[in-house]
Amino acid sequence: MAKIASLKDIEEAAIKKLDTNALNYYYSGAQDMITLHDNSEAFDRYQIRPRTLRDVSNVDMGVTVFGKKFSSPIFIAATAMQKMANPVGELGNVRSACKHNVGFSLSSISTSSIEEVADAVKDLEAEGHKSVRYFQLYVYKERAKTLNLIRRAEKAGYDALFVTVDTPYLGRRLPDIRDNFKMPYHLKLANFQTSTDEVSDSTTESENSSWLARYFTDQVDPSLTWNDVLWVKQQTKLPIVIKGILTAEDAKLVVQHNFDGIIVSNHGGRQLDSVSATIDALAEVVEAVEGKIPVFLDGGVRRGTDVFKALALGAKAVFVGRPALWALSYDGEAGVDLMLDIIIEEFRMAMALSGCTETKDITKDYVKIAPKYIS
Ligand code: FNR
Repeated sequence: MAKIASLKDIEEAAIKKLDTNALNYYYSGAQDMITLHDNSEAFDRYQIRPRTLRDVSNVDMGVTVFGKKFSSPIFIAATAMQKMANPVGELGNVRSACKHNVGFSLSSISTSSIEEVADAVKDLEAEGHKSVRYFQLYVYKERAKTLNLIRRAEKAGYDALFVTVDTPYLGRRLPDIRDNFKMPYHLKLANFQTSTDEVSDSTTESENSSWLARYFTDQVDPSLTWNDVLWVKQQTKLPIVIKGILTAEDAKLVVQHNFDGIIVSNHGGRQLDSVSATIDALAEVVEAVEGKIPVFLDGGVRRGTDVFKALALGAKAVFVGRPALWALSYDGEAGVDLMLDIIIEEFRMAMALSGCTETKDITKDYVKIAPKYIS
């Protein structure tokens, strides 16, 4: 096999290894997957305006987020059920993020618990590595269950809560519906010890027969409003980042309600199909928050130049979702190490070849819309 040289190569290798159930779940977007594809393709509509003849012998990719310093602005997004990719699951991702000094976010519906993930980096921390972990929170109908997650994340030293607001119901992911997606029986949703059997089977033909869609309907609160997220804020001193914002109107509400950050995200194209690619939504969100809180982006980031374009349009850092799952499937923790090594090196190269030596140098002067997309 030829040497792996890009995240695309890792994805192709992983696709060959995964079974249909896991591949459908990881790969799919909602409905016709218009947004899923556009998330990546939209990056190609922007061109970089590089500057030359600047001393780029030293490039510092560092960023500071909520008072913590990171070596580069490429973090790992919260994705559910990572043990379907490899038995090491979330532990491989958190360890790799720690070794690379980048942030890691843990899904509420992970196959390793909040505590297991925190314990998995203890040896690395003893060697001097720093682990920054964020906990992605779904607000459950049962508020006691939600509060229990918050307290456990605080106790286990997580640095912020990412409250996902784009999932009152799980989006319709057709491959999961067609093939009746189910979490494999040997796994559990580890934060609750929920097994596959505990979620009812679909009863009608028109019902969403994805196991996870039914879990959501049973458990997650579709009546969520700003007041409920304010309730979360009242329960904790942790910074609260709102994940799943795509418009200036909602971005302004995040600021008005004194939340601490925004992730411009469409859930990797898995919720509402036909919404804008995140890189296209970023500028209006950044403009609306007027620098008051950090804005992050996820969705379709696959190359160092994508990271560069997102930072140029105002993102503080980006998160990668599927690339971390493909990397885990490809080679466990070593696969994630390889994935991060590649994209971090690509980003360093993008900075150097654009004449930027610090991330704060990367401004909107460094990007433009490609002429063929200007009407
Ligand atoms: C996700 N995402 C997600 N988001 C969230 O808030 N909670 C979750 O449990 C999950 N689970 C999940 C599973 C899988 C398989 C995927 C692909 C995605 C969304 C995730 O955090 C992020 O928004 C996207 O993955 C970013 O897009 P890319 O990088 O996958 O294109």
